[in-house]
Amino acid sequence: MRGALLAFAGTVLAGIVAITYAQEIKPDRAIKYRQGALTVMGWHFGVLGAMAKGERPYNKDEAIKRASIVSEVSKLPWEGFIPGSDQGAPTKAKPEIWKEPGKFKDLQDKLIEETGKLATVAKNGDEAALKTQVGATGKACSNCHDDFRNK
Ligand code: HEC
Repeated sequence: MRGALLAFAGTVLAGIVAITYAQEIKPDRAIKYRQGALTVMGWHFGVLGAMAKGERPYNKDEAIKRASIVSEVSKLPWEGFIPGSDQGAPTKAKPEIWKEPGKFKDLQDKLIEETGKLATVAKNGDEAALKTQVGATGKACSNCHDDFRNK
């Protein structure tokens, strides 16, 4: 009986915590979160870009590490684009994001697809193929930036 009561109290508490948490996500936190994730992704993708351009020596192990980070992190920024977060902290996000959510989502999916390929190609250890896939991934970045990010 006591155990059941405790379990019940635990469930109620967990519910309250969950609700409070959801309410606590203010636009400024969401903006900082998504910018943080995008910055991390950009950092590691930048290293691959430098490798592709020959500004940095090609290294298979490093390419694998960077590409797998880019692939994982490319899934993360999007939950930070909560409704109402077109303002609340300095942001380059265009209001169009919330007017054309389907298009914005398609561009996220395209990015995730390309970064997944990037991780696979890196593991194959083919430098030329990596270069090509860095280019394709970069295109997925700029396709979205062109329409949804302010300069
Ligand atoms: C689906 C759309 C989309 C895709 C795809 C995308 N970005 Fe972005 N990116 C944005 C938006 C929108 C912002 C502005 C976010 C803000 O300021 O709130 C941004 C901002 C950034 C920033 C700056 C973060 C800051 O603090 O200002 C970097 C770096 C970045 N993106 C890198 C990349 C790279 C690299 C790729 C591809 C590997 C990429 N992005 C793909 C939409 C996208």
